[in-house]
Amino acid sequence: SPKACIFDLDGVIVDTVPAHYTAWKAMADEVGVAFDEKENENLKGVSRFDSMKHILSLGNIEKTDEEIQAFTEKKNAIYVDIISSMTPADILPGVVEFIDKLKANGIAIAIGSASKNTPTILKCVGLEKVFKVIVDGNQITNSKPDPEVFLKGAAQLGVEPKECVVLEDAISGVKAAKSGGMKCIGVGHPDVLSEADIVVNDLTNVDIDFLKALYSNEEL
Ligand code: G6P
Ligand code: MG
Repeated sequence: SPKACIFDLDGVIVDTVPAHYTAWKAMADEVGVAFDEKENENLKGVSRFDSMKHILSLGNIEKTDEEIQAFTEKKNAIYVDIISSMTPADILPGVVEFIDKLKANGIAIAIGSASKNTPTILKCVGLEKVFKVIVDGNQITNSKPDPEVFLKGAAQLGVEPKECVVLEDAISGVKAAKSGGMKCIGVGHPDVLSEADIVVNDLTNVDIDFLKALYSNEEL
């Protein structure tokens, strides 16, 4: 079995996707760009600044870096306001049980997220003491699909990339895991996450045997 699991945060551990969408939709409306949930898939795993740039590019709109920065601050204020009322009830199905199984089997766990709000979110849902290693948007320079966030996680855990399984709901995150040489379980829809090794709806049926099956033809 693998030595570690690295979890994305938004959309894998906590249900923050609707909050991100609501806040980005408000910014898209403000600049007059059409934006829907399908387009939102392209923003998952992407930093705040690059997300705003993406929205502007959809409308061929030019803004200075300072203006983009101001939009991201506005977006984040809306977002933080929504997520500040999150509780442990917002942890996604199967997550707590899966983490318990990993701990019982000596498999290390880390967070690999692009979000600068990671510490706030983990605190809101009561998971701030659960992860041995947390790599988030405050510590990385290259956004997913660059593998930096996951490679840093593996290094801090002291394991090889190939000994890690990444859990991801974002197209960019799956690409990051695969280009980093890791196994990847996509959490979401198979049509969206086609580059993952396997795709699940949520973590309810993911267990140690499921992880082992990812390595069925390999020596670890
Ligand atoms: C995650 C989310 C993205 C978000 C990014 C940065 O990857 O999937 O939607 O833009 O984190 O989050 P932040 O909380 O720092 O704005
Ligand atoms: Mg995510």
